[in-house]
Amino acid sequence: MKITFDKSPANKIKSDAFVFLCYEDKDLLTAELKNIETTLNTEILGITLEDFSGRDTEVEIIYSNDKRIILSGLGKKDELTLEKVRKACARAVKKANDYKIEKVAVEIVQDESLKRTIDVIAKVQTEACIMALYAFDKYITTAKEKRITIEEITFFSEFNNLKKFAKQIEEGIKVGSIIGKAVHCARDLGNEPSNVLYPEELANRIKKLGKQRGYAVRAFAMNELQKMGMGGIIAIGKGSKNGPYLIEMKYNGGKKGDAPVVVVGKGVTFDSGGISIKPSAGMEAMKMDMCGAAAVVGVFEAVTQLKLKVNLVGLIPSVENMPGGNAIKPGDIIKSYSGKTIEVGNTDAEGRVILADAITYGSRMKPNCIIDLATLTGATVVALGHFVTTAMTNNSDLKNEIIESGQATYERVWELPTWMEYDKLIDCDNADVSNMGNPARTAGTIVGGMFLKRFVENCPWVHLDIAGTAMSNSTGDYIPKYATGVGVRLITHFLRKRYS
Ligand code: BES
Ligand code: MN
Ligand code: ZN
Repeated sequence: MKITFDKSPANKIKSDAFVFLCYEDKDLLTAELKNIETTLNTEILGITLEDFSGRDTEVEIIYSNDKRIILSGLGKKDELTLEKVRKACARAVKKANDYKIEKVAVEIVQDESLKRTIDVIAKVQTEACIMALYAFDKYITTAKEKRITIEEITFFSEFNNLKKFAKQIEEGIKVGSIIGKAVHCARDLGNEPSNVLYPEELANRIKKLGKQRGYAVRAFAMNELQKMGMGGIIAIGKGSKNGPYLIEMKYNGGKKGDAPVVVVGKGVTFDSGGISIKPSAGMEAMKMDMCGAAAVVGVFEAVTQLKLKVNLVGLIPSVENMPGGNAIKPGDIIKSYSGKTIEVGNTDAEGRVILADAITYGSRMKPNCIIDLATLTGATVVALGHFVTTAMTNNSDLKNEIIESGQATYERVWELPTWMEYDKLIDCDNADVSNMGNPARTAGTIVGGMFLKRFVENCPWVHLDIAGTAMSNSTGDYIPKYATGVGVRLITHFLRKRYS
């Protein structure tokens, strides 16, 4: 998809449709329609304000004597938020796509009440348009038409002092375009079926991206994992014919010797539950149990192209969690990379076991901080639903930065406690720690996080459980069904704030 900014007056721009974002206010709307006629040098053929009133759920296509115009509602002017801008943009470009349009022009919003600089608004609009125009259709061979017909989005602006703002708008569009496409990349990986995307293939794809974007990738296979003592990754991965990998990505955008930021992503390419097998209903969703890994890849896509001044390490423990003759069994005791022994009470609590190794490995790099992203527990969905990522931490400053990035991107994050009473729940009679503990299964999300916490060695750490946010079961304005790409915007925002 081509994303451009056209500084020409709108009536000079060639496009199949023009998008205008409108407030829910009769007077403002009437004025805006007049304004559209002048700007586009055209004559609107008809619209009644009963059909379209500018509410933040509405979108409408109208016609003039020579143009298609899409009106998308922002809601009331004094209640405007960036999220409403995102959603209005998303609805508008989807409407254009419904009409099988190839090129759509979108107006940059100007609104003082947003209290955001114009580059932020341009960025947000660009991201929203790209995120809205996503389809996972690479395996469809019978359909005659493409699901996404839009090939180009051109932003335009009606600012009267455009000269002063053009550079900022251009920059915002550039950044938004990189980030929006990075989200697509994460979604594509998340949606890939597990017969195609197994640990080795994930490693290969990341190697390819590393070459393209200029970051180093190493993938440790079974024999190397054995030498390293990665007992957790091996234990979970050995049940599948598709062997486990630890994938390590390194981008040196910072100063030599600067402590790296380490992002860890759970890369379970399929989670059957193993011997503690899952019920079959809904099991197909477990091809997305590598959305943490996908987010890490997306973050690397963004950070390397934005050339952030950070030393960034990505760590992806990747396995296929399968039952079988060689699979780990409930009650087995293994030795993790840290040296701590783990009793595996339930083979379906596999994510924490592979992440433990990666988190210890990351800790020993003496990092600035570790952030892990994992579709770790169904319990986060039970507790808080699909609208929020749950966080646990040992460092409230770091956590606050992440929470703020969550507000800014609307990839919202909510903290859960790490009180010692929860830590007791994973104490174990037969080993140093249990991956299950707590047979009553209360506080499932916290227990998962407490387990990870035991493998962090002296560095600031935030754990993000994205089980609720990484996979969607319905289509939203810019969030598609299935893999959402959550985490890419959140972590990229956090890194941009710190290292731009
Ligand atoms: N990958 C699942 C968690 C999950 C469930 C993610 C639903 C997305 C949607 C994880 O490996 C898992 O199976 N967790 C168990 C832990 C339990 C056995 C302690 C769970 O949540 O039931
Ligand atoms: Mn599981
Ligand atoms: Zn899992």
